[in-house]
Amino acid sequence: MLQFRRLGVDDAGEALTLQRAAFVSEAALYETVRIPPLIDTIDDLRRELAATITTGAFLDSRLVGSARLTLELPTGWISRVAVAPDQQGRGFGSALLREVERTAPATVRRFQLAAANRSANNIGLYGHLGYVEFGRGPDAVGIEMVFMVKPRVPGVLLISGSLRTRSVNSAVLRTLADVAGLVGLTASIFDATTELPYFDPDCDDDHLPRSVAALRRAIGAANALVFSTPEYAGALPGAFKNLLDWTVGGMEMADKPVGWVNVSNNPGRAAATYSSLETVLGYVNADVVPGACVAIPLSHTAVGPDSMIAEAPVRTELTKVCVALRARIDDRALVEWRAGQR
Ligand SMILES: Cc1cc2nc3c(=O)[nH]c(=O)nc-3n(C[C@H](O)[C@H](O)[C@H](O)COP(=O)(O)O)c2cc1C
Repeated sequence: MLQFRRLGVDDAGEALTLQRAAFVSEAALYETVRIPPLIDTIDDLRRELAATITTGAFLDSRLVGSARLTLELPTGWISRVAVAPDQQGRGFGSALLREVERTAPATVRRFQLAAANRSANNIGLYGHLGYVEFGRGPDAVGIEMVFMVKPRVPGVLLISGSLRTRSVNSAVLRTLADVAGLVGLTASIFDATTELPYFDPDCDDDHLPRSVAALRRAIGAANALVFSTPEYAGALPGAFKNLLDWTVGGMEMADKPVGWVNVSNNPGRAAATYSSLETVLGYVNADVVPGACVAIPLSHTAVGPDSMIAEAPVRTELTKVCVALRARIDDRALVEWRAGQR
């Protein structure tokens, strides 16, 4: 299975080998090897890996794809999309681009890229992924490039405090993901809580465990977050608290619109747990949105065979959560835009 991680300076050698192999076909199209991806040196690569967000796609331990994201906010420029020649035609290019888009910082509002005008396959792939042409012009060596753009739909990251397969908290978040599109949001569920090691401040440094780096990247990429958690013995579940502890050392949740859905139908309504969650959200300076924090008491019988909640009133309440988050996301974008105008 394809796995992704951000490439660092130490990956420069492997990344350069992949880039050269992948761009030979492009050189053949133009009958010249003087195209930028083939001219790059190892030092160029090291510099680029340090200055950009480059995502690598791995099959086992082999680097089979990479793509670069350069921030010119609010634009994220995607370039050097490379798939190893023997691995092309397997959908890895699409998967790689989706990963780059999914994990780009929340401040990226649109993606742009440039494809060589003779690269019909690439232009077709980008079109299939929602990119449209907005201009043409020569690159540094005079090859005509087609510039393409794709607006970014704001994304919400959903985190359940329960690991149970038939979890009602997870079901409510799946349902929220299902209705998010109604208000122009996409939503994804963070499903790697069990991969996080036990929180240890000694490990909270520049060499974060991969699973923790992935968590922080997912939070950083989200425009908003929603939590839903059960209460265990009057407190937050241990695995979920562990996840929250790993968020404290990063700044990813600061100022991020956050909501929660409390599905407890016990008499105490898991009040202590949600109060504790609010305390943690205060520590990380999250922007808790009152309209996106709701109590919807539910029992396990509400979870349908599709692992979602079918009841219309529940879906309406969850839509209201999405509306409140969307409004806050848009307000924040407006404030950022005005600040950029000054
Ligand atoms: C070990 C354990 C402790 C629990 N403690 C509490 C509790 O203190 N307060 C409460 O309201 N519910 C408590 N519950 C009930 C769970 O919150 C309830 O089963 C909830 O629906 C689980 O959510 P899930 O379906 O998303 O896993 C406890 C359940 C377990 C298994």
